[in-house]
Amino acid sequence: MSAPSMMLFHSPASPFVRKVMVLLHETGQSDRVAVHSINLSPVSPDAELNQGNPAGKIPALRLDDGTVLHDSRVICEYLDLQHVGNPLIPREGPARWRRLTLASLADAIMDAAVTTRYETFLRPEDKRWDRWVDAQLDKVRRGLANLEQEHIAELASVFDIAAIGVACALGYIDFRMPDFAWREQQPKLAAWYAQVSQRPSMQATAPSV
Ligand code: BEZ
Repeated sequence: MSAPSMMLFHSPASPFVRKVMVLLHETGQSDRVAVHSINLSPVSPDAELNQGNPAGKIPALRLDDGTVLHDSRVICEYLDLQHVGNPLIPREGPARWRRLTLASLADAIMDAAVTTRYETFLRPEDKRWDRWVDAQLDKVRRGLANLEQEHIAELASVFDIAAIGVACALGYIDFRMPDFAWREQQPKLAAWYAQVSQRPSMQATAPSV
């Protein structure tokens, strides 16, 4: 086994980082990447992360020539071009745009859930805005309802970039919003998630503080 040639800026709670980690596992590339965990929040930047990545995006992937790739979409696309197995992002045709759009919905759900976490945990209590949080949670609800009604068969057909994104979004909701009770409204999504959660890639990347 050769030494890892890339370094991934990693945060163990981030669902965006988890997407990259799951893709690395699923494509057999975990050994190529050294993981550098940092404790990050929007109000505690990390100087090393900001080098070549001025917005401090996480995940960020530093290549062996010093190039820094961000964010998770770009990194997943890059890593998916680096292995010889079946692509996890279709290379062309309608499937590419369908799967990337589903992956984008998953990112939007993650984004709203992470924003909710910041608003309810990080922001000082006297500055919190309930309507803002409600609007974020509505985005999560609409996204999950759409997955349940329109996309279960697509999700179940292959564990690719779209399925990875949705699985990581649901994992984050369970991790940070354990009372959200989404399974009652989305039983098909819940059954699908129960199955994919057993995959070694998902088990190996469960979020932690
Ligand atoms: C979290 O602690 O929930 C978190 C940390 C980093 C990125 C996203 C979420």
